[in-house]
Amino acid sequence: MNVSYEVKEHVAVLTINRPEALNALNTAVLQDLSLAAAQAEADSDVYVLVITGSGRAFVAGADIVQMKDLNAVEAKSFAEVANNIFSKIEGMSKPVIAAVNGYALGGGCELAMACDIRIAGAKAKFGQPEVGLGITPGFGGTQRLPRIVGSSKAKELIFTAETINAEEALRIGLVSKVVADDELMSTAMEMANKIAKNAQIAVRQSKDAINKGMQCDINTGLAYETQAFSLCFSTEDQKDAMTAYVNKSKLSEFKNR
Ligand code: COA
Repeated sequence: MNVSYEVKEHVAVLTINRPEALNALNTAVLQDLSLAAAQAEADSDVYVLVITGSGRAFVAGADIVQMKDLNAVEAKSFAEVANNIFSKIEGMSKPVIAAVNGYALGGGCELAMACDIRIAGAKAKFGQPEVGLGITPGFGGTQRLPRIVGSSKAKELIFTAETINAEEALRIGLVSKVVADDELMSTAMEMANKIAKNAQIAVRQSKDAINKGMQCDINTGLAYETQAFSLCFSTEDQKDAMTAYVNKSKLSEFKNR
């Protein structure tokens, strides 16, 4: 298996495990990633997914050895397979945190961008090196990077193929937090556990409204939000939490229903 999967309480940790190739994404890794993400989505005990890499890379890109001899038809199918998997991760009902432990280049940066939240270890490096290899980004980089950092910075990064460090990634908003390398997983787990303690229906509805709203005009987005907000009023979680608030007591945990 190229991906290890472990569940700790309500948090699943998916570790890409091909360190000898800096976790480069070939077809086998992509398939294992897809299966592990589907497992996390299907497991009702899992509330949050954390994705990280083993060794000194998060993911150093799509596998250049596999791509070298592809023709245009094969390249299209390779990109479609990866895009499908990344879109599934992005569209998971549960929050996904990328704990970026090292190189996140090309497909690695693109995988991190398909996650909801990105935390970087101090040694993490980000970039879209594709034009230096005679190709464009193919796993969502031209679409998600400008949506996250704006089109000018995205074009600069993609056209120059420059690699940036974690602090620069934080400055441009590509990651939301940078921590010491040895604190990366504990920080990601702490954040995941904090999310897991909240009302999961509300968390998932929030994610869905944000994701949908990022792709449409604001009035349509506000309608998605109204739908999500009102749906929460049919849950026990809303009644329990607001009753506890009004009674000046504290809800010990959500039923998530
Ligand atoms: N595809 C296939 N193999 C890769 C890879 C990739 N994207 N990235 C790293 N590897 C392999 C290397 O070929 C090497 O294998 P080898 O030991 O059999 O020679 C192994 O991983 C270790 O990488 P190495 O290059 O020796 O490490 P380094 O510390 O000197 O450099 C990088 C690290 C990330 C700067 C360098 O590996 C690199 O530039 N990788 C490609 C990044 C890239 O362009 N990604 C986008 C692809 S579209």
